[in-house]
Amino acid sequence: MKMSYPKLLGVNIDHVATLRQQRGTRYPEPLQAALVAEQAGADLITVHLREDRRHIQDRDVELLAGVLQTRMNLEMAATPEMLAIARRIAPSDCCIVPERRQELTTEGGLDVAANRGFLGDFCAELQEAGVKVSLFIDADEKQLEASCNIGVPAVEIHTGHFADARNRAEREKSLLRIQHAVTFGINTGLQVNAGHGLDYHNVASIAAIPGIREFNIGHSIISRAIFSGLADAVREMKSLILAASESDH
Ligand code: PXP
Repeated sequence: MKMSYPKLLGVNIDHVATLRQQRGTRYPEPLQAALVAEQAGADLITVHLREDRRHIQDRDVELLAGVLQTRMNLEMAATPEMLAIARRIAPSDCCIVPERRQELTTEGGLDVAANRGFLGDFCAELQEAGVKVSLFIDADEKQLEASCNIGVPAVEIHTGHFADARNRAEREKSLLRIQHAVTFGINTGLQVNAGHGLDYHNVASIAAIPGIREFNIGHSIISRAIFSGLADAVREMKSLILAASESDH
């Protein structure tokens, strides 16, 4: 019998904090955004605590840990500082991402294949602390195999290249790569999630791929919230994901 799971939406609230940090004000409050998002149907709340603290701050993560009713997915770089924070905060999930200070956002996936030893040890320590670990990787068999080998339960496939495709042919090529990676990942026993650059126009193509479990989406939802309010923005994204995945049963 084929197993089917509901598709879950992780709302990334980093850019609520971006607005606040831009002016050093007390608003807008990420915690408030998280609670509104949860009430509107977010299945998890995602935050990226960057080394440079450009948006989410330590205090945000601490407060969220105390009030979230769903799950916290903490995105972070594989550094000793972040490991100590994750141990203290104990989020249900951590997604390990590469970080370069100059980048606008996370630009590429982790090179797990080239860093098996280091990442394997890092993830093992996190898992010992009871955290479910995923690795943010490109849609690449080599990276999926390496992720499986180091024993993490999940990966998040980087959909940014698909989102940024400049024409139809590039988009199709990217989509095929992601479809192939999802099937390959599931066959190796990994939970496969997806995220980056997903918006109200392109999410259906990714959500229609059978087997993807979680979608982590931030920028487009927070942008839409300016015009329609956060609750509606979350509800609309979730219904697009569920409608596109209706055939995935
Ligand atoms: N997933 C990961 C691993 C990310 O680093 C980000 C950006 O922080 C996202 C998802 C969300 O991307 P976007 O803001 O483009 O929806």
